[in-house]
Amino acid sequence: MTAETETAGGAPATEGQRLPVLSARGMVKTFGRVVGLDGVDLDLYPGEVLAIIGDNGAGKSTLIKCLTGALVPDAGEMFIDGHQVRFKRPQDARDAGIETVYQTLAVAPALDIASNLYLGRERRRPGFLGSVLRMLDKKGMRRDAAKTLAELGIGTLQNMSQAVETLSGGQRQAVSVARAAAFGSKIIVLDEPTAALGVKESNQVLKLIEEVRSRGLPVILISHNMPHVFEVADRIHIQRLGRCAGVVTPASHTMAEAVAIMTGATTLAQTPGGA
Ligand SMILES: Nc1ncnc2c1ncn2[C@@H]1O[C@H](COP(=O)(O)OP(=O)(O)OP(=O)(O)O)[C@@H](O)[C@H]1O
Ligand SMILES: [Mg+2]
Repeated sequence: MTAETETAGGAPATEGQRLPVLSARGMVKTFGRVVGLDGVDLDLYPGEVLAIIGDNGAGKSTLIKCLTGALVPDAGEMFIDGHQVRFKRPQDARDAGIETVYQTLAVAPALDIASNLYLGRERRRPGFLGSVLRMLDKKGMRRDAAKTLAELGIGTLQNMSQAVETLSGGQRQAVSVARAAAFGSKIIVLDEPTAALGVKESNQVLKLIEEVRSRGLPVILISHNMPHVFEVADRIHIQRLGRCAGVVTPASHTMAEAVAIMTGATTLAQTPGGA
């Protein structure tokens, strides 16, 4: 039985022969009387960067929280490689290989860079010291943290034993992005990863996203920065008032057209590339 037949009915759309890595159908999330998501579909294909754009409050963060177990949707279905999944907590998504950098960064400020990188997956020392005395392999984690950051091209963090609370906002963001890129094995999700970053650091994160994609991992990128989006995205999911107002590509639509759809000045169908 193929993945497609298995999920026929609420099935994820296939684009040609490609099966989405992640597929969501009819996601709904309300907060009391506030509608965060009003029936949103999303597909993420292998090796692509899918950007999500939308005005403040359009439901971007709510959408990715529902996809990554940080929120449980009121309705909707989700499929990974065609198999239905239900994430009840962020750890469920992490166990499925999905690493997320949330808009409100989840770092432990008092811990150092290496400890933050290995948060939740701490390494123990080999043998008796680790298995019985539960001693952490701090030296090993520091060494590998430095190696990981260097490989990812993040050069502004030198001392792995520096507490994260003493880092600049941008450096903290870099640690979070590095962590996701280092440990994500299936999908990387980044909610505004360059919001606090300077020009040089933003470019580094964009390079990192491209590098992750070249490793074959798909990326979901939420950003308000249109030039960034048009530079790295393969497809752009436009979120408006809790719904998806359309999916475009940098080839099919101009930045101005994407923004017009995002703000409701036009609809996807009215744009030249949207027929
Ligand atoms: N925990 C919550 N409690 C109540 N309302 C919420 C909660 N989280 C989100 N909302 C509401 O849901 C809607 C969508 O919010 P969301 O954070 O997803 O927007 P966003 O597109 O990420 O915006 P931004 O660009 O500002 O980050 C908003 O109206 C917001 O006020
Ligand atoms: Mg948000």
